[in-house]
Amino acid sequence: MESSLAETDPQIEGIIGREEQRQAIVLEMIPSENYASRAVIQAVGSVLTNKYAEGYPGARYYQGNEIVDEAENLARDRAVELFHFDHANVQPHSGTQANMAVYLSLLQPGETVLGMQLDAGGHLTHGHKVNASGKLYNFVSYGVDRETEMIDYDGMLTLAKEHRPKLIVVGATAYPRQINFERAREIADEVEAVLMADMAHISGLIAGGAHPSPAGHAQVVTTSTHKTLRGPRGGMVLSDSKYARRVDRGVFPGSQGGPMMHVIAGKAVMLKEAASPRFQQYARQTVKNAGVLAETLEESGLRLVSGGTETHLVLVDVTPLGVLGKVAATTLESAGIVTNYNTIPFDVQPPTIGSGVRMGTPALTTRGMRDQEMRTIGHLIVRALQSHDDEGELTRIRGEVRELCEAFPAPGLLQQ
Ligand SMILES: Cc1ncc(COP(=O)(O)O)c(C=O)c1O
Repeated sequence: MESSLAETDPQIEGIIGREEQRQAIVLEMIPSENYASRAVIQAVGSVLTNKYAEGYPGARYYQGNEIVDEAENLARDRAVELFHFDHANVQPHSGTQANMAVYLSLLQPGETVLGMQLDAGGHLTHGHKVNASGKLYNFVSYGVDRETEMIDYDGMLTLAKEHRPKLIVVGATAYPRQINFERAREIADEVEAVLMADMAHISGLIAGGAHPSPAGHAQVVTTSTHKTLRGPRGGMVLSDSKYARRVDRGVFPGSQGGPMMHVIAGKAVMLKEAASPRFQQYARQTVKNAGVLAETLEESGLRLVSGGTETHLVLVDVTPLGVLGKVAATTLESAGIVTNYNTIPFDVQPPTIGSGVRMGTPALTTRGMRDQEMRTIGHLIVRALQSHDDEGELTRIRGEVRELCEAFPAPGLLQQ
């Protein structure tokens, strides 16, 4: 008999058990997190991890790939069908890898790209100077309008005309509004740039019909697979056929070696789940929940960046309650509510403190929580922030959070 994990490595077994318990009893409100299903977790925990499969189905550099080829083909076909693109590459190890692979495919070092500014909600891989994207390419940043705190498309056009980028990247990590892919494509066409949509945060909403799709607008699309899509940790690239070969070469051999076949199998399972009518309901409820949460927070005196939300995400300026982002996020964590602190547009605080907290509803909605629970949670959040120096009250809220979690067990977890 082979040794179990508990026998081989009780320390790791213990860590996994404790983390599972933590996930069960907190309100997980980091908008990029979710609960993958048992089916996804089973695929990822499978013996497909043993297989080397450099290359693509039917054209591998290793023997013995007939069976795993089937898994990758399923994942590719399902991705193409779900998102309505000509081609899918399901090998990127993460959203970051997907973005870097596209840059490598379409750009020469030093070429100009337009991307969203980090403090306006853009991602590090959209040209931040500490990231390889910002070091290798000449990124120029567009942002949001100071008044509306929504993407300034006119400003994007002006910058595009001035800098003549080869690529325009739309998509964000901390932006509560819908992305206007149609308008972005018009801007890209005006300067003959390619439009890349990084839909990492909203891909599940797009799959479920709760956010407009970039299909027919962006020529290349990247995503992570573990956020609103609720799959295993990983990435994907979708593209028009014109860019398919270049993108494939940008992933392998351009920026990765062997694909993670166990994760690709998990992506295939996730794509099957995301194509179901239940997932459509999930995506719609996720957005509805964010709206109810936002309303509740605003009624209690918090300021919502951009005045609201159209997605799964709410960016809250917490300064009206006399706290800054970092204190707010640590206070909420003491109360069993897990979020992350964030800068807000034109923030006067550095990113290590921030004036805001970013929160989202994907994981709560996976647990089956709806409008009523969002109101309860909104009130718990405000109570916690108002009691940031009151240990007793934070402990009481933590107890209420735990009761709520117990009433809505998270799928995918074994011990609850
Ligand atoms: C818009 C956007 N792009 C890319 C990424 C990177 O994804 P990953 O963490 O899978 O590398 C993120 C992650 O937060 C993101 O929000």
